[in-house]
Amino acid sequence: MKTIKTLAFKFHPTKDFFILDQTLLPEKKVFITIKNTKQMVLAIKQLKVRGANLIGVTAGLSLAQYAFKNPKAKNLKALAKQLSLARPTAIHLSLIIKQIMKQKSPSAKLNQAIDFYKEDKKACLEMAKKASSLIKPRDRILTYCNTGSLATAGIGTALGVIKQAFHQDKKKIHVFVCETRPLNQGSRLTFWELQQEKIPSSLICDNMLAHLMSQKKINKVFVGADRISKNGDTANKIGTYNLALISRHFKIPFYVVAPSNTIDKQFKTGKTIPIEKRSEKEISPYWAKHKKNIINPGFDITPRYLITKIITENGFYKN
Ligand code: MRU
Repeated sequence: MKTIKTLAFKFHPTKDFFILDQTLLPEKKVFITIKNTKQMVLAIKQLKVRGANLIGVTAGLSLAQYAFKNPKAKNLKALAKQLSLARPTAIHLSLIIKQIMKQKSPSAKLNQAIDFYKEDKKACLEMAKKASSLIKPRDRILTYCNTGSLATAGIGTALGVIKQAFHQDKKKIHVFVCETRPLNQGSRLTFWELQQEKIPSSLICDNMLAHLMSQKKINKVFVGADRISKNGDTANKIGTYNLALISRHFKIPFYVVAPSNTIDKQFKTGKTIPIEKRSEKEISPYWAKHKKNIINPGFDITPRYLITKIITENGFYKN
């Protein structure tokens, strides 16, 4: 088979597995070698590779590659568990690992992992085509965190829709990108992707939302999702809930774009979706060192009533 190449990784079953170290962007574009699943677990925890769909796909490929290269390995179950638990909020990681482990032979595991890659890439395109009709020429669209090719196996979820509207559907739009504190996936990654794509865009701080919305600078919001409960409550990067509340105040449509496998019907509402607790150092290395109280949840839950529509590759989600 040919090497799979995306913006975020390069994979071939019998060769080294390379991932783009996203913590170094936008200053440096460096691919690092993932030699085993332990290194993959670390890369996921450290957000060298990140984004709900992408961590699922790359973890799956890493596990399947190990199984393929070591057909007699006895530790596969333990490695699968470590990968599944690397980050708790996005459903894709545990879902993909579970499905791969259901496959009996190493080659079936590998095919399953590659299928997840292909399905995610295809779902991104389908969602983009479906949701692009929600974008009109001269729209001023706000997006949050990073939901592009650095978060998926394809063009992205929310950012994929924006790319489709601008490039394929030729709509003249302007994109506003929230910095997305504390780790700045918006300013470091989304703004970088938009520069690569030559899509007109402005970078803003997270606390400028109400100000800019009150001035009618923004008229639509598109975000992604890490897990969606049966009733449509949506777990996404911390701050998404703030954004949804402010959007509602200014009557600005708020769209969630995510593949259908993001919907976890085991959770009736979003209340019990696991929220990742991240290191205090990410907020303030200084105060963390001085053992002061710092709170750093990685995600929040936006209730369904604040969401105008949830778009999947199958169309609008009706709960
Ligand atoms: O902590 P991250 O950078 O992995 O968070 C990513 C997000 O919150 C994205 O919005 C989400 O994964 C949806 S896009 C696939």
